[in-house]
Amino acid sequence: KDRGELRIHESLDELSTDLADYIAELSEASVKERGVFSIALSGGSLIGLMGKLSEAPYNRTVDWAKWYIFWADERVVAKNHTDSNYKLAKDGLLSKVPIIPSHVHSINDAVSAEEAASEYEFVIRQLVKARMVSVSEVSDCPKFDLILLGMGPDGHVASLFPNHAVLNEKSEWVTFITDSPKPPPERITFTLPVINSASNVAMVVAGEAKSEAVHLAIDNVEPDCSKLPARMVQPTTGKLVWFLDKGAASKLDGD
Ligand code: 6PG
Repeated sequence: KDRGELRIHESLDELSTDLADYIAELSEASVKERGVFSIALSGGSLIGLMGKLSEAPYNRTVDWAKWYIFWADERVVAKNHTDSNYKLAKDGLLSKVPIIPSHVHSINDAVSAEEAASEYEFVIRQLVKARMVSVSEVSDCPKFDLILLGMGPDGHVASLFPNHAVLNEKSEWVTFITDSPKPPPERITFTLPVINSASNVAMVVAGEAKSEAVHLAIDNVEPDCSKLPARMVQPTTGKLVWFLDKGAASKLDGD
C-alpha cells in the first residue's frame, strides 16, 4: 500500500504555512501547464488551516483569476446557512482574494439532495468539455488538479462515511446521501473514483482525537477498507500527501 507522502508538523502554524506553500506551488505549476487550476475544497477545519492563502505573500503571488473552485462535498443547506461548506470557504478565504465569482462552482441550494448531486455532476461535465477540468486517461473521470480533504475521527472523507453504500459507487461522479451520521444529514459528495482520479489529493488532519484513524488509514493494519473510507483514498496516477500535526501523527507506526 502506498502511504503517500507524510508531512508532519510541530504546530498548526507550521502546518498552515506548509499547506499554503503546497497549494500555491500546485496552482503555479498547473497554470503554467494548462492555463487554469481546478481545486476542490471540503468543509471542516481545513478552511481555517488554509487561511494563510489570504495573507501576504500568497494573496498577491497566487494567480487567483485562474482558479476554478469546486467542493468535494457539500451539505444540502442554503448557501448562507452556517452549515454550508460554501459559506465557510467564502467567509474564510474566497471573499478575501481576487477569485472570479463565475469560477466558483457551488451546488444549487434550492433543490433536493438528489437533484443537487446530478446538477453538480452536469456542471462538472461541462467544465471537463471546456477543459477547465482535465480528464483522467484511465478512468474517464474528471482529473482535478487538487482535491483537499479533511478526515473525521471515524475515518470519513468528503461525505463518504464508514460502511456506507456510496463507497461502492463506480459510475457516478457526484452522489448524495440523506443519512449522514455527522449532521446535517443531507449531503452531496464526490465519489471515490473521482477522488482517486485527481492529480493531487491532500488529506489535512490535525488533533490527537484523529490519531487512531490516521494510524488505521496510513499504516498497514486494517484489512476492511469500508470501515475506514480514508484508506480507500489511493490516487491511481496522482499524488497523495498527508498534512498532519504531531497529535494526529502520534499513533503512526515508526519506520
Ligand atoms: C464536511 C466535511 C468533512 C470534513 C471532515 C473533517 O462537510 O463535514 O467536508 O468531510 O472534512 O468531517 O472535519 P474536521 O476537520 O472539522 O474534523
